[in-house]
Amino acid sequence: MKTTMKFQEEIKQGIPSVLPEAKAYPIDANRAPKRKDILSVDEKQLAVRNALRYFPKEWHQELAAEFAQELKDFGRIYMYRFKPSYHLKARSISDYPAKCEQAAAIMLMVENNLDPAVAQHPEELITYGGNGAVFQNWAQYLLAMKYLSEMEDDQTLHLYSGHPMGLFPSSTDAPRVVVTNGMMIPNYSQPDDWEKFNALGVTQYGQMTAGSFMYIGPQGIVHGTTITVMNAFRKVLSKGETPKGKIFLTAGLGGMSGAQPKAGNIANCVTVCAEVNENAATKRHQQGWVDELIDNMPALIERVKAAQANEEVVSIAFIGNIVDVWESFYENEIFIHLGSDQTSLHNPWSGGYYPVEISYEESNRLIREEPEVFKEKVQATLKRHADAINKHTARGTYFFDYGNAFLLEASRAGGDVMAENGIDFKYPSYVQDILGPMCFDYGFGPFRWVCASGKPEDLDRTDAIAASVLKKIMQESPEEIQQQMQDNITWIEDAKQNKLVVGSQARILYADAQGRMEIAKAFNDAINSGEIGPVVLGRDHHDVSGTDSPFRETSNIYDGSRFTADMAIHNVIGDSFRGATWVSIHNGGGVGWGEVVNGGFGMLLDGSAAAERRLKSMLLFDVNNGIARRSWARNEEANFAIKREMARTPKLKVTLANLVEDDILNNLSL
Ligand SMILES: NC(=O)c1ccc[n+]([C@@H]2O[C@H](COP(=O)([O-])OP(=O)(O)OC[C@H]3O[C@@H](n4cnc5c(N)ncnc54)[C@H](O)[C@@H]3O)[C@@H](O)[C@H]2O)c1
Repeated sequence: MKTTMKFQEEIKQGIPSVLPEAKAYPIDANRAPKRKDILSVDEKQLAVRNALRYFPKEWHQELAAEFAQELKDFGRIYMYRFKPSYHLKARSISDYPAKCEQAAAIMLMVENNLDPAVAQHPEELITYGGNGAVFQNWAQYLLAMKYLSEMEDDQTLHLYSGHPMGLFPSSTDAPRVVVTNGMMIPNYSQPDDWEKFNALGVTQYGQMTAGSFMYIGPQGIVHGTTITVMNAFRKVLSKGETPKGKIFLTAGLGGMSGAQPKAGNIANCVTVCAEVNENAATKRHQQGWVDELIDNMPALIERVKAAQANEEVVSIAFIGNIVDVWESFYENEIFIHLGSDQTSLHNPWSGGYYPVEISYEESNRLIREEPEVFKEKVQATLKRHADAINKHTARGTYFFDYGNAFLLEASRAGGDVMAENGIDFKYPSYVQDILGPMCFDYGFGPFRWVCASGKPEDLDRTDAIAASVLKKIMQESPEEIQQQMQDNITWIEDAKQNKLVVGSQARILYADAQGRMEIAKAFNDAINSGEIGPVVLGRDHHDVSGTDSPFRETSNIYDGSRFTADMAIHNVIGDSFRGATWVSIHNGGGVGWGEVVNGGFGMLLDGSAAAERRLKSMLLFDVNNGIARRSWARNEEANFAIKREMARTPKLKVTLANLVEDDILNNLSL
């Protein structure tokens, strides 16, 4: 009880009235990489001046020196001294000192994103992806939490890249928080612009669910990867064939890539996943995410041949370079059904991708001491990598790019990955071939919820409610989406036994607009009857509508509009006046600063009639906005889905595309 009191008082006080003692950096923390030293002397002065805005004059002398040192040591000013003394984690919603329940729900979600069990670099307020920030510094966190504790039902907190601009009067139906992260004037959106303006303390990289308080740990990525692997197998196997004993070869056992072997096991295949970093491979093995570790090629070949022959379901981590595996499997005539790659090629020159034939340690030395030599070796490896994949695909392997910029970097390195037209790649991305047409175009995407009571039994109950709603909907679903419905029912029925809950009591479940709305309505009813406590709804930004990203979420848009960002902007504005509890819009996330605009929402269900009205209005728009745009881009599945929705929803009237015969165009003289 005493600690709860202390925690509540600390939140309410915001920036303390007495200067706290300077804190030593915890030695066991997983610290963020030192950021680029990019500011001029004048700009460094400006960065310190900016940071001191949060504090009274009497502290400036002392804090100025400390912040200048942080800038020197870390490339950023995190204000470690102001990190609160209480443990950051998602508590029960009733533990938060708040005047309105919606604000308490947001506090819970903020704290979850900063929980050391969930966050990648919690001391630097980074949730995932190396740079996905919740706030830029601890002063912003303290102020935001204080505002949330004071907020009433008719006020809105505006957060500018973590900075709480303040509480503004609004209305009970308005969002309680509006979040923007990294929004720039378009010409200032190069990677070094992020380095500079983030160091100045005026912007941040919110990734996707980091800066929107909606991260739920690895569960989200496991579900998405499972759906991708399962559907990829469906593309390549004949009817009645199962993935058992069939090989899925890929690379990477890091943050997101580490989900691949687990997903492979759920999809019932043999996963071989190469990882050059022995520590990363061992960690995933200890966590139970991969079944076996092998560190030499002859043993790998023997083991894989046995797994194929015995039709096993097993995941094997190979400690070594992925290129060696592709090449050796070719020589040993091992047939790969599915191939992909999740090395971090969005970051190829600083350790995202390791060259073949040199040790991991030597590579790291080259990165530091001879970056040009390292770059040459990476590019030579990428060419070999592409050649080996091409040999396998000539034998029938299905290869897809996993949104990690493999094809992009391989093409830049001169690898043989371009299609005959010289514009497209030879191989599809996972969104072009799998998630786009099979899921997003029908409205299926990563819907999620958090039980705000913090009780595991509430999560069990919501799992059961969601499963029964989906089963009911499936009975009347058209043929086109029966498979998706069944996959999602299987996932939710097995979700608990996959033991993926870390931090808050959260669940992810791919669902379409109807599924999301009916599940949410059933939750709201259960809250109203006292069966469960309040529930926060949300989704990953990697979804049907929230994200414009030409090489990922919207890569299967072929009318030229994939380089526009109107959909994401309409989504966030549309959600905000239809009842979202908070909304967010970000530049960057997943594929890089300047490469994507992505948004999301959070919505508190409290069992009230107002919550029911909001969920129906907002979830309908949140999904169908993207389906409408995908349909206008002539995507067949989206056209089917939006017509179905219009038949169900008389007030929805979407402009439909007329298709033109190819002959008419082919006969034009242009
Ligand atoms: N999982 C998804 O759904 C998804 C979706 C979109 C994009 N991605 C992309 O996948 C990539 C990986 O993400 P992450 O969070 O796992 O990154 P990460 O950096 O944590 O992990 C990548 C791993 O690849 C290993 N690696 C690098 N080069 C290698 C090589 N030549 N052979 C074997 N192993 C090698 C690294 O040691 C590292 O552990 C990113 O580019 C991400 O944007 C993933």
